[in-house]
Amino acid sequence: MSSTREPKKILITGATGAIGGALAQAYASSQNTLYLQGRNMPRLEELAVICRGLGAKVITKVLDVKDSDALVQWLHELCQQDTIDLVIANAGVNSNIGPECQGEQWENIRGLIEVNLLSLMLVAETMIPFMRARGNGQIALISSLAGYFGLPITPSYCASKAGVKAYGEALRGWLKPYDVRVNVVMPGYVDSAMCRAMPGPKPFLWQPEKAARYIKLGLAQNRPRISFPFPLNLGTWFLAALPAGISERIVRALNYAK
Ligand SMILES: NC(=O)c1ccc[n+]([C@@H]2O[C@H](COP(=O)([O-])OP(=O)(O)OC[C@H]3O[C@@H](n4cnc5c(N)ncnc54)[C@H](OP(=O)(O)O)[C@@H]3O)[C@@H](O)[C@H]2O)c1
Repeated sequence: MSSTREPKKILITGATGAIGGALAQAYASSQNTLYLQGRNMPRLEELAVICRGLGAKVITKVLDVKDSDALVQWLHELCQQDTIDLVIANAGVNSNIGPECQGEQWENIRGLIEVNLLSLMLVAETMIPFMRARGNGQIALISSLAGYFGLPITPSYCASKAGVKAYGEALRGWLKPYDVRVNVVMPGYVDSAMCRAMPGPKPFLWQPEKAARYIKLGLAQNRPRISFPFPLNLGTWFLAALPAGISERIVRALNYAK
């Protein structure tokens, strides 16, 4: 049986994006099988070619994670045929209040919660019975440093990432006795389409390859929280720890509010 510390069979959602694609390449090797999901078929195929070139066996899946039935069916079929060591639930979208601070559209808010929170929970809930039954497995949930304190320019995004953080922490405690590891990943700014579309300053921007290396190391060490980069991690952690009235003033002074 393959070890979860050195996973051999890895499933990544949102593999067509910057962080997901970099993670796929970080795990691509001749010992590994990658299950890669995205919606953008040409990008998925391009990534599969790169990962196969690095020696990995690659199976792709074009799927919208908002389609719960299709998501569950795909995961069930996989788990019945194979043993997935590591699942990285990474697919995500962003939304903001707009240039005139007009606010988010309800359809966007609902869609964002479906992708960023509910689909991650559904991936975890579908995988847990299989991993628990065999007493082995690892689930990484991609949250964000934006989950520490709500930024006025991205309310529903922050809410979704705070939800992922709390859910992942709870799952970790629940599943520890069953040798199923759960990790909450909280990136700061990482260069991607989503990041570029976000309003506000983006200090300490990392490239996706650096983020993927850091996440992979943190997962190998089974760290409960994999958060980076250090200065932004510390700053956002303080925002959560300080009295909210002080944090509110800091956030405004840093231009994350009008
Ligand atoms: N970049 C940052 O600064 C940053 C910071 C903190 C946390 N994060 C988190 O990191 C994760 C990856 O973000 P990224 O920066 O790599 O963004 P990205 O390049 O925009 O990638 C987003 C990924 O999510 C997938 N996705 C979105 N909606 C989907 C849906 N309905 N069904 C299936 N897949 C869907 C996209 O697939 P398609 O392109 O194929 O549609 C794409 O693969 C997200 O959860 C994000 O919130 C990013």
